Amino acid sequence: MQRPVRFEQAIARKYPEGVALAIVRDERGVDNPITLGWTMITSQRPPLLAMAVALTHHSRELLENAKEFVLCFPNHEMAAECLFYGTHSGRDLNKFGERPLRRMPASKVNGILLTDAVANFECTLYSQMVTGDHMLFVGQVEAAHMNEDPSLQRLYTLKTGFVMGKASEMEGSR
Ligand SMILES: Cc1cc2nc3c(=O)[nH]c(=O)nc-3n(C[C@H](O)[C@H](O)[C@H](O)COP(=O)(O)O)c2cc1C
Repeated sequence: MQRPVRFEQAIARKYPEGVALAIVRDERGVDNPITLGWTMITSQRPPLLAMAVALTHHSRELLENAKEFVLCFPNHEMAAECLFYGTHSGRDLNKFGERPLRRMPASKVNGILLTDAVANFECTLYSQMVTGDHMLFVGQVEAAHMNEDPSLQRLYTLKTGFVMGKASEMEGSR
């Protein structure tokens, strides 16, 4: 049986949700990471990845200027950093300066990869459109990288409120 509820109630059932970080370099050369839950694959040929970024976020302005970014899947031990990057704005502080993670130069875009991420995707801006209160940015993958350690797991959010964990921990928590 189904019963009608508010959107917020029903959409809460989508969790767990994979966590991603988009990293954009500003004109001063500072790399700003933003934590994202709303990302998806939109094409295989060419490979395209999309993400919804709130119109008010600093990253929205950075993305429109840079027109390129790195999207990566943080590993399950990066929860504290992802929470920090997802609750502070690059308008106010240098996030990597405050909460560093290991980084290495990207090969196709002007930016950096996260050395210990599960995977990194270097993207150039393919298209963008306003969708309500977010901007949908679609990136074409110019280079893809994966971690050599296959045991490394992705980070997930278990529910709204930014509770983070790895997939194997979630079974007992639900
Ligand atoms: C787990 C998690 C998922 C998030 N998902 C999104 C998202 O999909 N889109 C978005 O615009 N903001 C999302 N946020 C919020 C931004 O990461 C946050 O507002 C950030 O501080 C914006 O940084 P900026 O101002 O430097 O761009 C998320 C935050 C967390 C903790």
